[in-house]
Amino acid sequence: MLFLMRKIGAATTALILTIAAPGSAGTAPDSRRAAWQDLYRTPDAIPFPETNPYSAPKADLGRRLFFDPILSGNRDRACATCHLPGLAWADGRARAATLAGSDMDLRTPTLINVAWQDGPMGWDGKFRDLETVARTPIAASGNMNLKLVDAVARLKADTSYRDGFASAFGDPMISAERLDQALATFERLIVARRAPFDRWIAGDEGAISRAAMIGFDLFNGKAGCAQCHSGWSFTDNSFHDIGTATGGDIGRARLMPKSVALRYAFKTPTLRDIDLRAPYMHDGSLPDLAAVIDLYDKGGIDRPSRAREIKPLSLSAEEKTDLLAFLATLTGAGDQEVATATFPADAPKP
Ligand code: HEC
Ligand code: HEC
Repeated sequence: MLFLMRKIGAATTALILTIAAPGSAGTAPDSRRAAWQDLYRTPDAIPFPETNPYSAPKADLGRRLFFDPILSGNRDRACATCHLPGLAWADGRARAATLAGSDMDLRTPTLINVAWQDGPMGWDGKFRDLETVARTPIAASGNMNLKLVDAVARLKADTSYRDGFASAFGDPMISAERLDQALATFERLIVARRAPFDRWIAGDEGAISRAAMIGFDLFNGKAGCAQCHSGWSFTDNSFHDIGTATGGDIGRARLMPKSVALRYAFKTPTLRDIDLRAPYMHDGSLPDLAAVIDLYDKGGIDRPSRAREIKPLSLSAEEKTDLLAFLATLTGAGDQEVATATFPADAPKP
């Protein structure tokens, strides 16, 4: 069917979809389905910034650094200590662990689809871009606890890293900037695996259940989720107050204190592999997806900063189940690590 669609084009595609499920509940009108195919289609290539273009040796260097505890003071932590490929590039904890074993204020976010995050990074946007993130966990005394100068010195003392930097950058100079660039290049290869939802968007009607189709209608319609969780990555890369109780954390407003709208505003996370990433929210305060749906159904805490899209939804029990069924279709199958390892070296493709 996929092959057929490619051959005969979009207009006929919509027709086939209609014939497959004639006007019944959970199937959107043709025009909407066609529009969704545009909005949610897997992109053709991973975007890399001109200032840090892709190269295979740089990505290989970044991969090695990402998994290497050489970047922590007592050589026992790596980026992958918290961003674990097998846990959807997070750590399954409500809040990340400090070096002393207590809780940080924030949950470890997934790194899936960071290449498409074109705005500031971090739950409150404290990082300007991907290239500027890594030095913070490395240097933080409660985290990897290694001064950047010491990190650079350690890498310089290692012959294989000298070779690695030379092939990645054309000369063997090792600097904090190049360390950032190599790590960011690898991180951009962490792309959502193909999920049942993608197969359905591509035209395979049997890829997801009827409940999930109804859930997707709700997601785009009555429940209003797609106003913020939009597009292929299911995020607008923006910051909103969705009405969660946040303790003392005022989110993005900490950096922009004059803005009322940004009080309690946190980054809209991607919903890719969402089933694998409990507990949820910036502080891990919601144990499961049913609790997330309940929060949205109630509309969260009503306060001046609460996003205007957030309001009580009056979802029935069945509608909640349908939304959950849809969310489950966003989880891909197979090994994350293998998926990223198989990108062609010269022309990276998701
Ligand atoms: C102790 C666990 C831990 C370690 C180790 C760690 N991180 Fe993180 N990471 C976090 C937490 C927690 C956040 C959220 C920070 C914030 O929002 O202020 C985060 C945020 C990020 C983000 C931003 C993601 C987004 O969606 O905005 C990136 C990128 C990232 N880390 C990459 C790295 C890299 C690269 C390393 C290794 C140099 C690393 N992390 C080491 C816990 C960790
Ligand atoms: C106004 C924008 C907005 C709307 C509308 C919205 N969300 Fe969110 N969503 C967010 C933000 C922002 C967060 C992160 C909040 C936080 O961490 O405190 C979030 C978090 C989540 C999470 C947890 C993700 C994670 O990694 O922890 C899920 C799941 C989710 N939303 C699903 C939904 C569903 C389902 C709907 C519709 C019922 C919806 N969202 C509507 C902005 C929105």
